[in-house]
Amino acid sequence: MSDITDPALAAGGHLRLEWAYRRMPVLQNLRERLITDKPLEGHTVAACLHVTAETANLMEVLRDGGAEVSLCASNPLSTQDDIAAALVERGIPVFARRGEDTDTYYEHLNAVLDTNPSVTMDDGADLVTLLHTSRLDITPLGSTEETTTGVIRLKAMAAEGELRIPVVAVNDSATKHLFDNKHGTGQSAIDGVLRATNILIAGRTVVVIGYGDCGQGVAQRADGLGARVIVVEVDPIRALSAAMDGFEVRTGDQAAEVGDLFITVTGDIHVLREQHFAAMKDGAILANAGHFDVELDLAHLREASVAQRRIREELEEFELPDGRRIIVISEGRLVNLSAAEGHPADVMDMSFANQAMAAEWIIDHHAELEPRVYRLPEHVDRDVASIKLASMGFDLDQLTSEQSEYLSSWRHGT
Ligand code: NAI
Repeated sequence: MSDITDPALAAGGHLRLEWAYRRMPVLQNLRERLITDKPLEGHTVAACLHVTAETANLMEVLRDGGAEVSLCASNPLSTQDDIAAALVERGIPVFARRGEDTDTYYEHLNAVLDTNPSVTMDDGADLVTLLHTSRLDITPLGSTEETTTGVIRLKAMAAEGELRIPVVAVNDSATKHLFDNKHGTGQSAIDGVLRATNILIAGRTVVVIGYGDCGQGVAQRADGLGARVIVVEVDPIRALSAAMDGFEVRTGDQAAEVGDLFITVTGDIHVLREQHFAAMKDGAILANAGHFDVELDLAHLREASVAQRRIREELEEFELPDGRRIIVISEGRLVNLSAAEGHPADVMDMSFANQAMAAEWIIDHHAELEPRVYRLPEHVDRDVASIKLASMGFDLDQLTSEQSEYLSSWRHGT
């Protein structure tokens, strides 16, 4: 059983899946072990992830490890219908249609939960939220979480004593957030903006709101394309690092007056709202790369505008009573996944190797786990980084025994 847009799209999906797989050497390496050891044998994995070529490769690797897998989308606009079709043709149930409405989105989440999974995989904690609301009938051994916003939600549940299963915060692995969030979002968010608008970034004022891992990547890439970059932050340490990385740091109100392109990456709500829209220049372009579509207060923009039209495939133009036009990309949903293809396989390689190892870790350790948020052991990060580095043709130096001894001793002084 599956629910996808069009099975006939499979041929293109197979090609994209294969193209992505070539650039996922860590996942390839892991697959060899999983095929032999079958550590997931007898287990069911229900995944709620963006339905992309990279995710499809993860699903196949999990299946090669012995798991029964099924997949639904973690965002209604990020599904690549050709990939969904290819996966179904490869025998993996998929419940995802690009552009699905909210009811269908939740029907699809429930469909993967109906497989009574031993492990759930989330990107934004939507499955886990259902497991704590309407699907108390299901208790997996544990869950994994891909993104910052999901981890924040899960830690809040744990702090309130509400979490009822152990969760591995894959996002907290260094080989996930330092690369996927920074380099993946940095490149693919700009890619989304370019595909949606085809504007020239050089010479524009780009306002990046939120200077976490994702925002740092976006600011760097915009800078590299010749933009004047302004960063808006609420955390003094992040703001200071933006300043010392060479960016202007301003308040949202100040930036609103001068920005040509605004990209929100905070994981927060209504980061751009009425007071900012009121100050923006005619033609200002807004995009969001944070997890949920709540960073731009679009309800207000809709209400305040006198006219609204779709000006390009992923662009909605809002005309305000004074004639200024504000342009929103992909309805304020993750710009890199809605207007482009998401992160390149090269970084998802590490994120998804961590995901597969997190599923295996839950299965191996569930007996001793408590209902709280865990990180994968540090050696997993080191292994993932070493394999990736070697695949890129780089070599790691080694400590001499004298250096190892020196670095682990407190007796050495001047
Ligand atoms: P982070 O926690 O490292 O950074 C977020 C930053 O936003 C923090 O420095 C915080 O101080 C700042 N912030 C919060 N509220 C703000 C406000 N009102 N104004 C200005 N700054 C504010 O988080 P990270 O990892 O950078 O992730 C950000 C968002 O992007 C999350 O929702 C995450 O789930 C999502 N994400 C999206 C990806 C994508 O593919 N587009 C990939 C990875 C993460």
